[in-house]
Amino acid sequence: MNTASLTEYKVWDLPTRLFHWINVTAIIGLLFLGFIMLYKKELGISAIETKIALKEVHVVIGYIFGCNLLFRILWGFIGNTYSRWSSIIPGKNFPSTLRLYITSIKQGNTQQFLGHNPLGRLAIVFILLLMLTLLVSGLIRAGTDIYYPPFGSTIAEYIAAPGVNPENIKPHDNEGTIKTKTDNIFQIKVIFGRTHRYTAFILMFMIALHIFIVIRTEVREGGGLISAMFTGKKVLKKPPADL
Ligand code: HEM
Repeated sequence: MNTASLTEYKVWDLPTRLFHWINVTAIIGLLFLGFIMLYKKELGISAIETKIALKEVHVVIGYIFGCNLLFRILWGFIGNTYSRWSSIIPGKNFPSTLRLYITSIKQGNTQQFLGHNPLGRLAIVFILLLMLTLLVSGLIRAGTDIYYPPFGSTIAEYIAAPGVNPENIKPHDNEGTIKTKTDNIFQIKVIFGRTHRYTAFILMFMIALHIFIVIRTEVREGGGLISAMFTGKKVLKKPPADL
């Protein structure tokens, strides 16, 4: 490779890189605990205390994941050019940008981008929507399952029998609750539980696709895609299409 023609560009700012790696770490933890919860029977976990403890740890990591995600949403309005939503969410000129990019791939002269390429932008928006769905459904499950914030106290107040202090209602224990009301909450639990589980499966697929495409692009075109998430810098051979 002719290194003389390589140019280094500062792309990802520090908050964006920090978000990415905190997000990766939180998702690994959430998936790990999520799958232990999903296969608890097969793993021989039957004690109710262990089941609740697993949920509690999953939810605490979920809060970190949620705060990090909300921070990134905010950073999309104040971060550098490439971290901004205006560079990520498809806008007015997106169809022509996408067409040009796909044509360049077909012609074997793939355009290089400093930020995300047009297909990457679509994937990122989809992954973000999946993560938001997991956050919302997870918070609702945390409230309906173990009465954790932000919805837990409202749910406990709703199901508490007259004269019972909602704070004394325990997870997985119907004592002190009104049956018709716990049944209503159960319906919500099932809907959001399924949403949470299937969204986690789709997210896993998207993560696998994301890793595969990043590695393939790095091998085919270089650019320092992977190291850029550590250093913030990309090294391109061609003039970038989004400078
Ligand atoms: C990337 C993010 C997340 C992933 C991949 C994930 C994954 C999972 C998986 C695979 C399960 C097991 C599903 C089942 O047993 O049906 C689960 C359960 C659960 N998740 Fe998450 N989760 C995420 C985020 C969150 C967040 C942000 C919260 C709340 C703060 C949360 C709260 C819960 C709760 C309470 C359960 C227990 C449901 C139950 O089995 O009763 N999750 N999660």
